[in-house]
Parts: sequence; structure tokens; C-alpha cells
Amino acid sequence: MRTQVAIIGAGPAGLLLSHLLHLRGISSVVLERRSRDYVERRIRAGVLEQGTVDTLIEAGVGERMLREGLPHHGIELRYGGAGHRIPFEKLVPGRAITVYGQQEVVKDLIAARLAAGGDLRFEVEDVALHDLESQPYVTFGGERLDCDVIAGCDGFHGVSRPSIPEDVLTVFEKEYPFAWLGILADVAPSSEELIYTRTERGFALHSMRSPTVSRFYLQVPPDARLEDWPDERIWEELRIRLESVPGFTLATGEITERGITPMRSFVAEPMQYGKLYLAGDAAHIVPPTGAKGLNLAVADVRVLTQALAAYFADGSTDLLDGYSEACLKRVWRAQHFSWWMTTLLHTFEDDDAYMRRLQLSYLDYVTSSEAAATTLAENYVGLPF
Ligand code: PHB
Repeated sequence: MRTQVAIIGAGPAGLLLSHLLHLRGISSVVLERRSRDYVERRIRAGVLEQGTVDTLIEAGVGERMLREGLPHHGIELRYGGAGHRIPFEKLVPGRAITVYGQQEVVKDLIAARLAAGGDLRFEVEDVALHDLESQPYVTFGGERLDCDVIAGCDGFHGVSRPSIPEDVLTVFEKEYPFAWLGILADVAPSSEELIYTRTERGFALHSMRSPTVSRFYLQVPPDARLEDWPDERIWEELRIRLESVPGFTLATGEITERGITPMRSFVAEPMQYGKLYLAGDAAHIVPPTGAKGLNLAVADVRVLTQALAAYFADGSTDLLDGYSEACLKRVWRAQHFSWWMTTLLHTFEDDDAYMRRLQLSYLDYVTSSEAAATTLAENYVGLPF
């Protein structure tokens, strides 16, 4: 079997790449270890930057997102007994975010690929990458897929990044001393906008998916276990942290999904080796506080699509050679922003009274200085693609 681009992983990065290549007449095969049902249900973040929204619309896969997605023009930072709105419409006019679940993007992309006769293989076993320096090919479940280029879009735990010789990659990594417990609940959001809350008991986030479905996160210890968090404890803790301003009442409902996410910052450089190009979580991870993960993956895929289009048009390799460098600028900006939002809003056990006062003082600065608030807003809605 032969294709131009073998794509490892059917998450948002792999599926979008396959779709954008198809629009340019470039063939691909997508290989995914999990089932279609699994990837369509996998609950992840849900904040799309303007550039991501524009990319999906331009690619003809934005119809349902435009219908069902929720445009947001601000977020609230809540701490010290008060809420402070960061008004995007004033600070970064014309730019906003759209709340639309990542798995909805995945569903839309799978539907578009299948409608166009795309070759998506789910539940493939034993995927291995070969001959990355010369004539690359992929083996899986006893089959062989020859290709010109491989795109590694298989996430942090995938096989693509470990296929690169260890001495070629420089890895930058930071672990945080906490995790996020996330839930999805059948209840109308208690606020029109996202609320990022800093309390002495830890961080909490109120997000949403639709007018009838809310999404919440709680900062928990890194070794927290779901069995120690029955529904009542989750709601009680969300209530304490979110009902920290006068007049705010948290509405509760049936919890339909729950999970614990470790918090990590990670970058592997360069994002390419021979004929293998990494995109999205395979190359970099950010803590979810800045809502950047999916958006970075989309930005990588845009750069890679252009580079591959040039390569298949006339054999030019300039853009492909510069792929990693082109992506890493944005990646490191998002690394800093995500780390910064995380340190601003979480409690660190090791912090002494002095550090806690510094954190509050910084929050006061961000919410009272237009320049500081603009820095937050500009990064949150995303730098232009
Ligand atoms: C979400 O809705 O899942 C969400 C929103 C904002 C974040 C992270 C996750 O920063």
C-alpha cells in the first residue's frame, strides 16, 4: 500500500492535516490505535482561538461549530472575594474565543474525511515507523504502508516521538505539584463566561459546553484518585471555591463524565527528523490553564500543510526544513503563557506567606492595569496565525 503522507493518530491534529492535504490534492492514510467511538467521545478542552475557528471555517468543516459553538468575549478572574472581568472586546477588539468541545471538532473532521472517501484506519495494532532518513514506511497489524513523509500526530504517549533517535532530541520538561479533576455535568452554566478562580484551597474553573451542559475543574493533589472524590465531595469543593464572591450560586446536576489530568509542560526539539514531522501533543504539552493545547496543534498543522504543499508541488524542501523552527516560536510563547496562567492561579504547597501575597498582588496588577490585562487577553484569544 502506498500514500503520500502517512498520518499517525486520528486526534484533531492528524484528522485536520488529512483534511487540509486532501483539499490540496495530497493523499494520506490515517492510522489510529483507538476505536472511532473512543476518539469521538474522548473529552478534552473546549476553547478555540479565533485562528482555529477561521481555519475550520476556511476548510469547510466549521458549519456545526458556527451553529453550536459559544462565542465568548471575556473571561472572569475570581480571587480575594471578588470577580474581575477581562474584556476581550475592549482589550483585543475583533478577537474572541469559541467554546466548542474538542471531541466535536474530531467528529466533524471524521465525518468530512469519510464523506470525501478518506482512508482512516481505527484500532490498528503494533504501529512502527521505519527508515525515517530515506524511504519511510509504516508497519501495522501485518501491513506495510509506503509513503513520502510521515506526520506524527499521535500525542504525548504515541510511537512517533520515540521513533526519533534519543540523541537527536532536546527535551524541556516541567511537572507541577498538582493535577486537575475535571467533570462534565448536565446542568446549565451558572455564569455566562468562564471563571478562573484562585482560592486558598486551590484553583477551580467553571466552563461549559452548551446551554445545558457545564464543565468544571478542581486543582487536586497530583496523586488524587477518582474513588476518593464522590459526587458530593466534588460539588462541595466546587461550591466552596466558586461561591467565593457575594451573590454567586453554583447550580449542580448529574455528573456524566469525570477524569484526572496530570499537569505538565513539555517540548521536544526539533519537531522533525528525516521524513518524520511531529505535530501537536507528540511534540509539546502545555498545562490546560491557558487552553492552548488544541490551538497549538492546529497551528502546527497549518504550517505543515503549507510545507507539504510546496514539497509535493515542485520538490522544494525549504519550508519542510524550516518546519520545526517555524512552529517553535508559537509553541514557546504558549509555553510561557500557560506556565504563567498556571502559577498565577494555583496554590503551591511550598509557597510561604510571602509568595502567596506576591501572587495576589500580581492578580491585582493583571486586573487593574490595562497593559497587563491586554497581555493576558492577547495571549488567551491567541496570536494571529
Ligand atoms: C474546558 O472547557 O474544558 C476548558 C476551558 C478552559 C481551560 C481549560 C479547559 O483553560
